[in-house]
Amino acid sequence: MDVFDAMNSCTAMRYFQEKPITKDEIEKLIHAATRASSPGNSQGWEFLVIDDLAVKGVVGDKVMAGMRPFFENRAASDDAVEERMLSGAEHLARNFAKVPTWIVCMARKVYPPQDPQESFMHSTIYPAAQNLIVAARSMGIGTCFTTFPGAAEPEIRKLCQVPDDLHLFVYIAVGYPERAFRPVKRKPVADVITWNTYG
Ligand SMILES: Cc1cc2nc3c(=O)[nH]c(=O)nc-3n(C[C@H](O)[C@H](O)[C@H](O)COP(=O)(O)O)c2cc1C
Repeated sequence: MDVFDAMNSCTAMRYFQEKPITKDEIEKLIHAATRASSPGNSQGWEFLVIDDLAVKGVVGDKVMAGMRPFFENRAASDDAVEERMLSGAEHLARNFAKVPTWIVCMARKVYPPQDPQESFMHSTIYPAAQNLIVAARSMGIGTCFTTFPGAAEPEIRKLCQVPDDLHLFVYIAVGYPERAFRPVKRKPVADVITWNTYG
C-alpha cells in the first residue's frame, strides 16, 4: 500500500476481530517503529507487547473501574463524530481484554547523555508510535492510540515486571479491524501552512 494511502486511512480503530496478531506481524510493526528518528539517534524506546489474556483481564478490569462512572453518566454528544469517538472509546475500554494485542510504547530518560530531559522521551516515542500505526494500516491491521490504560500503570508494572527506569507513554490497541478504515478527517493544508512569515 502506498504510504500516503496508509496515512490517509489510518483511522483510530476501536473495534477488532478476535483473530490473533502473529509474533512475526508484531515484530514487523516494532521494526517499523524503530526505523523512526530520535534525538541524536538515542533510540531510548522500548515496547511491551501484551497478549496474555490474564494480564489483559486484570488491566481491563482496573481501567473500567476507573472509567465506568464517566461512561455511565456522560450525556450523548450532539456532534456525530464526537459521539462515534466516545462510544468507540467506551467499547474499546469495555473490551480491553478482547483486543488481540496491546503494545505499550515506553521510553528511558537517556538524552542528552550529560543531562537527560523528560521532554526528549516524548520526542523519542511518538515518531516511533506513528511509524507503527501507519505500518499496521499498510498491513491491513487496525490500531488505536490510547492513554486511558495509564490508570492501570501500577498493575501493568507489577504484572509485567517493568523496570523502574522505563516510562509508559502510549498504549496501542492492535488487531484486525471489525469496521472499515475510513479517510481521516483533518484540517486542510491551506489552514495550517505559512510560508516564511505571518506578517
Ligand atoms: C496521544 C494520543 C492519545 C489518544 N488517546 C486515546 C484514548 O485514550 N482513547 C481513544 O479511544 N482514542 C485515543 N486517541 C485517538 C484519537 O482520539 C483519534 O486519533 C482522534 O480522535 C482522531 O480520530 P481518527 O484518528 O480516527 O481520525 C489518542 C490519540 C493520541 C495521538
